[in-house]
Amino acid sequence: MKTVLTGVVIAAFAIVPWPAGMGEPLAHAADGDVRKGKAIYEKHCVLCHGPQGRGDGPVGKTINPPAADFASAASKKKPDAELLATIEKGRPPTAMVGWKGQLSDAEMQDVLAYVKSLRQ
Ligand code: HEC
Repeated sequence: MKTVLTGVVIAAFAIVPWPAGMGEPLAHAADGDVRKGKAIYEKHCVLCHGPQGRGDGPVGKTINPPAADFASAASKKKPDAELLATIEKGRPPTAMVGWKGQLSDAEMQDVLAYVKSLRQ
């Protein structure tokens, strides 16, 4: 009986997958994939929002209003849904354009996850 039980326990451990993203806590910042989001960010967002998301990219700091600083207290308070809506629809009349159509829903989730990882 005891050996059977041990076998079951070992089997249970064997089939439980290693928790995804162990050692990369940022991977779960939102539903999106932070790594994919980083690539999208570097292609489409970094010129305005800057490498650290402070709104100080070469373009972002020259426009008025400047690109949003994701680490600001005001931005940190905004829920995912609000940030996602801004990514989708933009914020007229600022330079922030909507990305729906250019990015898929999954890509917008990914880039949101990356944006949130820049808040720390
Ligand atoms: C042309 C410059 C520019 C580009 C490119 C750009 N943004 Fe923005 N973004 C802005 C500006 C300007 C604002 C609004 C700032 C304000 O309201 O004061 C903004 C606001 C935002 C906000 C809202 C932040 C908040 O706290 O309300 C999010 C989220 C955001 N951008 C994400 C992105 C993402 C993701 C990309 C790339 C897919 C991107 N932006 C590309 C200029 C830009």
